[in-house]
Amino acid sequence: MAGIIPQRFIDDLLGRVDIVDVVSARVKLRKTGKNYSGLCPFHQEKSPSFTVQPEKQFYYCFGCGAGGNAIGFVMDYENLEFPAAVELLAREIGIEVPREERGRRAEADREHSHHAVLLDLLEQVNHYFQRQLRQHAQKQRAVDYLKKRGLSGEVARDFGLGYAPPGWRNLLDNFGDNAQHKQNLLEAGLLIENPDNARNPLYDRFRDRIMYPIRNLKGRVIGFGGRVLGDDKPKYLNSPETPVFRKGEELYGLYEARRKLRQIEGFLLVEGYMDVIALAQSGIHYAVATLGTATSATHLRTLFKYTNDLIFCFDGDNAGREAAWRALQQALPLLEDGRSIRFLFLPEGQDPDTQVRAIGKVAFEASLKAATRMADFLFDTLAARLDIESLEGKARLAKLALPLLQQVPKGVFSKLLFDQLDQLTGMATSTTPAARVDPRPEPPPALPQTSFARGMQSRIKVEMPPCIKAVNLLIRRPALVRLVQHEDELAEIRAEGMELLLKVAEIARLCPDASPVELMSRIFATAYGAQLTSLLGRELLTPEDGMEDEFKDLLAQMLHARRQHLRKQALVQDLRRRHLPPETVNPESNH
Ligand code: UTP
Ligand code: MN
Repeated sequence: MAGIIPQRFIDDLLGRVDIVDVVSARVKLRKTGKNYSGLCPFHQEKSPSFTVQPEKQFYYCFGCGAGGNAIGFVMDYENLEFPAAVELLAREIGIEVPREERGRRAEADREHSHHAVLLDLLEQVNHYFQRQLRQHAQKQRAVDYLKKRGLSGEVARDFGLGYAPPGWRNLLDNFGDNAQHKQNLLEAGLLIENPDNARNPLYDRFRDRIMYPIRNLKGRVIGFGGRVLGDDKPKYLNSPETPVFRKGEELYGLYEARRKLRQIEGFLLVEGYMDVIALAQSGIHYAVATLGTATSATHLRTLFKYTNDLIFCFDGDNAGREAAWRALQQALPLLEDGRSIRFLFLPEGQDPDTQVRAIGKVAFEASLKAATRMADFLFDTLAARLDIESLEGKARLAKLALPLLQQVPKGVFSKLLFDQLDQLTGMATSTTPAARVDPRPEPPPALPQTSFARGMQSRIKVEMPPCIKAVNLLIRRPALVRLVQHEDELAEIRAEGMELLLKVAEIARLCPDASPVELMSRIFATAYGAQLTSLLGRELLTPEDGMEDEFKDLLAQMLHARRQHLRKQALVQDLRRRHLPPETVNPESNH
């Protein structure tokens, strides 16, 4: 069937799968330092000599010499041919394998070599910009600017800084001597096209700017950022998306960090080019920045290939907190056990560049050690707008937090998060005695001291239908499900919330030892989630030790009401049968 899998796709695939995921889905691995090890699947052994190296995206067995990348592993392990192994890996990360007709192979090769042409051009232009910083007649303005920002020659060299001199056609004249070359400059994002200007339809994008080359993981220049020397706007110009530059996926400083550090303990995510550079200059080589875009899941997946720990650094102002919240949302599904993210909020008006210059490396790194843990940021942010001393606030907190916590992959860490939520909402009341011990004693239940509270209490007592009340109790203490009997009879009762009650009971029976939050998360996964959501806002004032009795009472009450009702009906029918004229009586019963 198949046609040829383009090489670009294979490169791309290897860039996107993580060999640790691929192998650990098939072989039990343990983390040993920065690598993983386990029993080799390719030969018999008792002690592990099989290692997986996330940094190199490579596996190797010291016992039998088997080794290779993710595709090779799948080929050997699953006993597949190359194309089938590629298909399988692509399926695992949910992407489709493109196929090319044999006749289109030439086209694919052309495209590949076209990328190479653009990369070569970008490299040459990068050297040109660097030369201008040393030689151009106007270089002093650029050098002075860098000096004023406190940059050392060494760091400027490490990051390959350059200078795009003033003028509209420096690149055009130096690199665009024929139509094809002009076209290449345009495609590499170095020119701007203005078709309205018939005489000069093309001109240089970067003029009179400090140039920051953006390099991919292999160290190839794929684009540029350019900063004005003064206060003009826009402050930064960036290369546009090009065939070799995917802005939303690249990280500034990643190549430089990897080159500098043999082992990366953790990454610091900052916002600006200058932040990365200033941090590097003060000896903090593990900072990276997105390219003026929000942090994406792709960015995070890339970083998690090299380390388990990320610290996001943001302004302490509102915009910074909002950006941090968006980053948190992107990170949740990636937070497998062992991975952690934290947040450092800088004093308002500071960015990492100014901050590290102000307080120095030691103090800055100390502040990193004290960065806010993900769970604290999450719960504090949600709780900030709630009164979590009140039951209603607690319920709302649970309602807001659950859909977030559910995104975290199941494991020890996600369990800890759920436990923390249980504690904050004071709902961990049901299961083991240990769960009952609350480190911070709950304030005494709000007694009806104010007329408002009194009003609330009586209103709820009057208004909450017994069935809804029973649901509330059952959620707060799933173990109560053991008291639910006569479900067929209950099912016959047409009351608000009965269906929900039975559903909750059904689920609670499957996991009677679940915590309230776990139970809720299971119900949220069903069609009853919405109904449950509307319930969570309601207050429930039953004290802990009255819950069991109240629940029993409610069930008994409902069943009693139903039985009464049935008895009454039977009575009425009986009366009718006896008093109505024979011809209207059902003929069958007339024998
Ligand atoms: P900042 O203004 O924080 O950048 O913008 P910075 O690196 O700290 O700049 P200076 O030199 O110290 O003043 C953060 C990032 O947002 C993008 C750039 O990627 C920048 O590094 N940005 C900012 C733009 O793309 N264009 C702009 O006009 C401004
Ligand atoms: Mn700055």
